[in-house]
Amino acid sequence: MDAIRLPGLVDVHVHLREPGYEHKETLAQRHPRRIGRGITTVLDMPNTSPPTATLDRLAAKARLAAAAAVCDVGLFLGATRDTDPLITAAAAPYACGLKIYVSETFGSLRLEDLAQLMAFFRTWPGPGPIAVHAEGLLLATCLALAQLYGQHLHVCHVSRRSEIELIRRAKQHGAAVTCEVTPHHLWLCEDDLPRLAARGQMKPPLATAADRTALWANLDVIDCFATDHAPHTAAEKAGPQPPPGVPGLETMLPLLLTAVHEGRLTLDDLITRLHHNPTRIFHLPAGGQQAQTWVEVDAAAVYDLPASGYQTLCDWSPFSGYTVHGAVRRVVLRNQVVFADGVVLAAPGAGRVLAAPVVE
Ligand code: DOR
Ligand code: ZN
Ligand code: ZN
Repeated sequence: MDAIRLPGLVDVHVHLREPGYEHKETLAQRHPRRIGRGITTVLDMPNTSPPTATLDRLAAKARLAAAAAVCDVGLFLGATRDTDPLITAAAAPYACGLKIYVSETFGSLRLEDLAQLMAFFRTWPGPGPIAVHAEGLLLATCLALAQLYGQHLHVCHVSRRSEIELIRRAKQHGAAVTCEVTPHHLWLCEDDLPRLAARGQMKPPLATAADRTALWANLDVIDCFATDHAPHTAAEKAGPQPPPGVPGLETMLPLLLTAVHEGRLTLDDLITRLHHNPTRIFHLPAGGQQAQTWVEVDAAAVYDLPASGYQTLCDWSPFSGYTVHGAVRRVVLRNQVVFADGVVLAAPGAGRVLAAPVVE
């Protein structure tokens, strides 16, 4: 066996769906999968129902996660139209960042009014960054606002050539900006839509093959790989108005290890973008705890990603049929073996909620 040891991996962009959308996924089913795929920390997005916009809601979500988690969980706050930015800011010490949906997507969270955007950029106290779903020209607006209000901007799921080139330009000019890219935007493009139909629909949408090439060509500008794991049921996807989003937690590491196998990525590139940069950008616990958490991978394993048999309620993947290299054999969380040879050994609650407000 070609054994590789990786540090605990961080997925900085997942939709845990609780509260409000438990039919798409539940905490109890979700967490084992993360551990099994080497992800030991996930950062949860706020577009739940109700959205995570206040300290009370953050605390309620933290309690849910603390009871069920077998991996560590950080929680984003969300900016809403009807929550005073000062109220949201009061919960900032307990959150991994503030998420602002500037472009339209799943759920009710959306902020497009310039005065409201300015208020959130002015008020957010950190230490976590302001993370934005901002497509196209709206990205330029967010870059300008971050610069004007001295904020660290984290750009979610960059998908187009123009966007990655703009971020490169901003970094060259010293802007405090970081960004992430998803496996679906690295592996798929609009040419896959006839084959995938609604299972290839997400926001931002799959872009052109040239956009995809540009993401790989500008990998040095990309700080994190992140799934944007956004499960919707197979029935919802087959319905008349399929919601945008695809699951990704169970397929990200195998796909990235395959890119390493093919020489499109180095193992260092992978570790930097799934461990070092996420830890730095989102101020996650570092030091001793990290040394006690690791992932053992059999790099020689080769297999096809299945059509079903995933641990999500939705149980499908846009990558079904892709041949991948590399399988997780063991995961150790704070010196405890939590996954070995396909079996999750951790009890619910073994994971920690990062910087949680008082959790009983
Ligand atoms: O495709 C998406 N789905 N994009 C988002 O920004 C939200 C997500 C979801 O929550 O389903
Ligand atoms: Zn998004
Ligand atoms: Zn998302």
